[in-house]
Amino acid sequence: MVGRKYDFLGRQFSYLKAAFLAMEQSVNIIDLARKCGGGYVSEGVQFFFLEHCLNSGIHEGFEPDFIYARNIVKKIIIAVESNHGTVVDGLYEQLAHYMSSFQDNTSHNGRSRVVKHITFLTDDDGLENFSIPLQCSENMLEGDTGCVIWPSSLFLSEFILTYPNIFSNKCCFEIGSGVGLVGVVLNKVKASEVIVSDGDLSTLENMKLNLDLNKLQSERTAVSQRLNETVSVKCKHVPWETISEKELEVHQPDIILGADVIYNPSCVPHLIRLLSIFLTRRSSNDDTNKNEECRFSPPVAFIATVIRNVETFNYFLKHAAEAHLTIIDITETNKPHSFLPYMVSTYNRANVRLYKLLSHI
Ligand SMILES: C[S@@+](CC[C@H](N)C(=O)[O-])C[C@H]1O[C@@H](n2cnc3c(N)ncnc32)[C@H](O)[C@@H]1O
Repeated sequence: MVGRKYDFLGRQFSYLKAAFLAMEQSVNIIDLARKCGGGYVSEGVQFFFLEHCLNSGIHEGFEPDFIYARNIVKKIIIAVESNHGTVVDGLYEQLAHYMSSFQDNTSHNGRSRVVKHITFLTDDDGLENFSIPLQCSENMLEGDTGCVIWPSSLFLSEFILTYPNIFSNKCCFEIGSGVGLVGVVLNKVKASEVIVSDGDLSTLENMKLNLDLNKLQSERTAVSQRLNETVSVKCKHVPWETISEKELEVHQPDIILGADVIYNPSCVPHLIRLLSIFLTRRSSNDDTNKNEECRFSPPVAFIATVIRNVETFNYFLKHAAEAHLTIIDITETNKPHSFLPYMVSTYNRANVRLYKLLSHI
């Protein structure tokens, strides 16, 4: 019983830290802090927060976002005081430091990008937890579409980590990659080659920066190979409307991925054209270098999506059928493990569907 209680608490503390690093909303942080303290934000929890969240940079190289951290410290102090608890000196000192600091510009206006750390809690599966830093817009209402971390890419990442063997030693090509999270995860499970892409140039710039943050920048590939490392993530400008068949054919991926790419009806026919080109690939001379399994297994696509507009999704299904693509809903049959249980304010996994696509030509 004691062990179980400890397990539960230990988990809540790791959720609290992961939620803070991912810049979850303050209500979620306070809720987790209360769970850690058994119903209120105890002094022990405040010490943990100071040491492992605010000062994690000292030990682990994470630098919490200044304005976000200041806001959370304020909210924690309010939560403790309104419960007539004792606020530890360190928290008051930290708030005083934030208030008097040069960066204290009272408003959020003018800042568009922050670096969030998405921590995958994989230790239950015998793997080491790991965090992926990503520069992105602070929330879904700010910035470009491609600079937000959308729920489908979180779901697709959990799927990849749950079934790594599907992706290891495979050439993977992601379309509409946004911040690039899926590409980093594909590299983690040792895909032989990873190509991330987007049609929006400013999104692509931000994605390159994220590959750099994760030490995966494509320019480093040559050096890494020399050092016998397997790093190979390439960033490519792929506007679905104008990219030519010839430009796509050079890649011949085994697996095509897309997260939250079905939302604009005018893009749907172009998206289907692209999927169709990749999925109807026949074995070619290039395939002779691949092992037997890769050479004869047809390409497959995995598309994760939140269906916000049924008409748009039906339009996608109609075009897919006309292009002789088979779509299988694998959301329930191939459920991913939950590696992001602490992300309650930004990620509702129940809303995401996962589809497998094949060509039946
Ligand atoms: C909703 S965001 C999803 C981003 C990322 N996959 C995720 O789930 O976090 C859609 C992405 O598709 C890209 N995109 C939309 N239409 C596109 C088009 N016609 N050609 C290429 N990329 C496109 C956008 O720039 C954006 O990065």
